[in-house]
This record gives sequence, structure tokens and C-alpha cells, in this order.
Amino acid sequence: MPMKHSTYSAIIVGSGIAGLYAAIKLAQSSKVPDGILLLTKSALSECNSRYAQGGIVGVLKENTPDSISLHVADTIKAGCGLCDFNVVKFISENSQHAIEDLMACGVNFDRNEENKLNFTLEGAHSVRRILHVGGDATGYGIEKALVDKLKNDKTIAPNVTIYEQTLAVELLLDSHDNCRGVISFNSATKEYEALYAPVTVLATGGTGQIYKYTTNPSVTTGDGLALAIKAHAKIKDMEFIQFHPTALALENSDSRFLISESVRGEGAKLVNQNGEYFMQDFAQKDLAPRDVVAREIYSQLSQGNKVFLDASFIGIDKFKKRFPNIYKTCLENNIDITKDFIPVAPAAHYCMGGIKTEINGKTSINNLFAIGEAACTSLHGANRLASNSLLECVVSAYEFVNTVTKQDLHSSKIIDETVLNTIKKYAESDNLNIEDYDVTELKAKIKNVMWNNVGIIRTETSLLTALSELNKINDVFDNKYRCSSLDEYELRNMLLVAKCITNAALSRKESVGAHFRADSVSNTVSFEHAGHTQKSEDRPDDSKIIA
Ligand code: FAD
Ligand code: SIN
Repeated sequence: MPMKHSTYSAIIVGSGIAGLYAAIKLAQSSKVPDGILLLTKSALSECNSRYAQGGIVGVLKENTPDSISLHVADTIKAGCGLCDFNVVKFISENSQHAIEDLMACGVNFDRNEENKLNFTLEGAHSVRRILHVGGDATGYGIEKALVDKLKNDKTIAPNVTIYEQTLAVELLLDSHDNCRGVISFNSATKEYEALYAPVTVLATGGTGQIYKYTTNPSVTTGDGLALAIKAHAKIKDMEFIQFHPTALALENSDSRFLISESVRGEGAKLVNQNGEYFMQDFAQKDLAPRDVVAREIYSQLSQGNKVFLDASFIGIDKFKKRFPNIYKTCLENNIDITKDFIPVAPAAHYCMGGIKTEINGKTSINNLFAIGEAACTSLHGANRLASNSLLECVVSAYEFVNTVTKQDLHSSKIIDETVLNTIKKYAESDNLNIEDYDVTELKAKIKNVMWNNVGIIRTETSLLTALSELNKINDVFDNKYRCSSLDEYELRNMLLVAKCITNAALSRKESVGAHFRADSVSNTVSFEHAGHTQKSEDRPDDSKIIA
């Protein structure tokens, strides 16, 4: 066959914090005789992680007002009781180690004049427990330290092969449904490669780009989730899409730069153009859980109001020092926070659901793992507590490495008939699709359909409309096996994931957390923090453990 074949001890797909940290820990374990392949669809440093602002949860002994039980209670309360108590507890307990190990990897968390760690606050946290880097550049700070370590540490770098601009397009399953590796597509050379390993981990991030307005960068198109859906892995909680309440809303622009929740944590307040500070009547005011704030802003905007953040409560000098990137970005867009309010609106931000996994990333498919935002460990339930996601990336990646290094990681090239048939489809050179449709236009259609119908407020009618529109797009783009470009693969994947989210939203008829059904009877009872009634079969009823 004209296609290249390669074997490794492990294949890591994705170079966000989950993928990078897994690569470092696996390389450090000295249990990867045939090396690690890290493949990533864009540049090594491009991912959601890079843009994280607010910080990472650190439940640290030195932070005396905090405790594991407080963090567990906050997480489960924000998640409306749909979190897995054991997972939450485990991740919380492992936070101290995760933070210490990140520091050992070269991450410099912000400190005060006494050289003590600075803790900030975000929505639904009962105490200050969030660590940050560079003020509002936490993701960049962590990602940079991990990339430096991966590339420059002499005990790590030789064990890791990095493929950039390379997309995993299909999981290689054998006739017993064991994962044997992936097929990759280099978007620059258009070459396919069959990659084999005893262990494959999807660290492919979330789904934000499926929506018209999102805080996520353009790479975040749900690709890993789509691979898992195609391979019939179990998927969970996809109806729970988190809309961040405060993205910078500029007229004549669809892009949505995040204005961190920690800006409200440090004192900023939401206000409408009539000067009404409309969150003041809510139990936790401006720091209510994200789903609550996002719905209230949505409601303000639907009434024709404009919504702003009033940062004057923070103090100008403090703001400039504490949020240098936000200050700079606002200024570049002619918003001078020394005299202007910041115009904000909600935007799709995080996918609570994903590939169903245990804490160590184990999926329902043998040899296939998923970690980070692509996975659903059930830490977040129906609504993620701010800054829990980076922590989950690190803890899960660590546990993944702990698990797989107990097995033999000598590479093997197992090619049975099923694997061979898959490879053949990519090896044939004569059937490259010629696109007779506009990929950019179809992507934009998906984003519009999802924003308008599967957004902050949903009804059965809007969800059925979405499904019908998505099916029409499917008819134009007939879900081809093999695509001719990265863009076309992204379109294929976005469509699959969009349908998955819509179907999940249709099947959950009541409102809970980030999933708000305007046609649900229970909404008359509780709009502020809707939910708690229906549970999926496989969700333990943890709301009863910590109520
Ligand atoms: P990502 O960082 O998204 O990385 C995914 C990687 O996979 C990318 O490299 C991508 O190119 C690659 N990839 C995807 N599919 C494929 C494929 N098929 N083949 C090859 N490569 C592929 N969380 C917090 O806890 N605290 C915060 O302060 C915070 N702030 C945020 C601010 C913003 C603006 C955004 C967008 C998110 C924020 N989040 C925050 C959420 C958090 O950043 C993400 O959930 C987390 O970084 C996800 O990390 P990850 O490693 O799972 O995925
Ligand atoms: C933010 O800084 O507001 C984002 C934090 C998060 O998504 O966890």
C-alpha cells in the first residue's frame, strides 16, 4: 500500500494542557520503549487551553479558608447534583499534587508581595481558591511551560515525536472493537498515515466552534468527539453546553473575546443601559453560577437592553495590573475601561459532556482513552464550576499515565481484516472528493442553526427545527468517508457533534443547569437554578450525598 505505517508505544491526539501534560508524564515514566506520538491538527500551541484566563482551582492546605469538602460541595451545587461524587472528591483531593507538579514543570503562578500564592474568586465558588498566571493569561502561562518542557527537557524530548498540522480522522478498530491506533491526515501535504499503538488517547478538546458565537478558537470543532461517535464509544451529557455570560460583544463582529469571570470575582458588576445592576436580586449576585448569569443576560438582551460590565468597582490601577490582556484588548477595540463600560454577551464556552470515561480516561472501547474537555468524567454535571476544567485536565492526564504504564507498551502492528479494510479506504488514490459545495458556508449554517435553536434557551420545536436543518446540510454534504481538506473534515465532525448535542437536548425534557427547556413544566418552579428532577440511568444520584 502506498500509505506510510508507523508504530509507537502511545498515540496522544491533541496538544492542549491535557495532551501536553500526558506526553510529559508518559515520557518521564521511562515505560514507553517505542516512543510517544503527539499529533495535533494545527500548531503545537494552538488550543483552548492557551486562552484560559481566570485560572485553575487549587484546593491547597495553605489556603486555610478552603477545604476539600467545600470545593466538592461548590462543584456539585454548580453542577445541579448531576456530578459523580467520587470523581469530584478524587479530583479535589488531587488538586494539591496537580498544582505542585505544574510548578515543578515550570509554571509560575502569580504571587503577592510576600511571595504567597494569589487566590482569586469566580462564580459559585464559596472561597478564593483560583490560581492564575500573568494576571489573566493562565492558559498561556501553563501551556508555554509545558511546551518548553516537552521540547527542551533532555529526558522527555527524545521520547516524543510531534506531528503538527495533522488531524486524526478515524480510529483504527479491529474486528473485536479494540482500538489499534488512528488514521491521520496531514493537512499541508494531504498525506494519510496509519498509526498503531497499544494505547491511544483523545485529548482533543471541546466543541465551541459549533456555535455562531463562541469564546473558543477556530480549532475547537469537536473532532475527537466525532471520531468517538463514529466508533460507537459511549458519549454522555452532550446537552450540557456552557455559555459563558461575559464575552466582549462588539458591534459588527461575530468574534467573542472572553472577559474573565474573575473580573466579576474582583468586583465588577453587570449593568444594563438603563443603569440597572440587574444581578443584585440573585442569591449570589454577579457571582451566581454561570448558567444563571448567562440566562439573565440573555433575558436582558431579548428585552432589547444592552448589557455591560462596570469595572469601576475594581479600581483602574488594580484592573490594569490584574487583567493586562483584557485591558489591552478592550483598548484595541476603543473601549477604555477608565471611562467606558465593557459591552458583553454570552457565548458558547465549554462542553460539559463528552466521551464517557473514568477519571483515568478509560472509555467504553478497549485501548482507547479520552482526557480533558473531550471526555466526560462526570466532574461537571449539568454546569461546570469555573476553573475546574484545567484541574481535571491535569488530574485525568496523570491518572491516565498511571494506568497505562502498568501495561506492556511495546508497540504492535495488529492488522486484521477490519483494520485492513479501514486502511484501504484511505490508501486508494483515485477517489478524492471534489467539493461541489461551499464548506465555509455549510459550517456557518451549522453555527447559525445551533446558536438559534440549541442555544441558551431551547424548546422541542427549536430542537426539531435544528435537527431538520442539520439533516438538510447532511444531504448536501453526504457525510463522506474520506474528505479532501482539513476544513471538510471539520465540517463532517461539526455536523456529527451538532446532531449529537441536539438529540441529547431533545431527550432531556426538563431544565437543569446549562440545559434550559422553555417548554418544561418545572421551569415555573425554579428559573434561577433550574433542575434536579430527571436523571439518566447511569448517573448516580449524588445530589443526595451533598445537599
Ligand atoms: P484543548 O486545549 O482544546 O486542546 C485540544 C487539542 O486537540 C488542540 O491542540 C487541537 O488542535 C487538537 N485536536 C483536536 N482534534 C484533533 C484531531 N482530530 N487530531 C489532531 N488534533 C486534534 N478552564 C479553566 O479551568 N480555567 C480557565 O480560566 C478557563 N478559561 C478559559 C478561557 C477561554 C477563552 C476558553 C476558550 C476556555 C477556558 N477554559 C478555562 C476551559 C479550558 O481552557 C479548556 O476546557 C481546557 O483548556 C481544555 O483542554 P484540553 O487539553 O482538553 O483541550
Ligand atoms: C474565565 O476566566 O471566566 C473562564 C474560567 C473558566 O472557564 O473556567
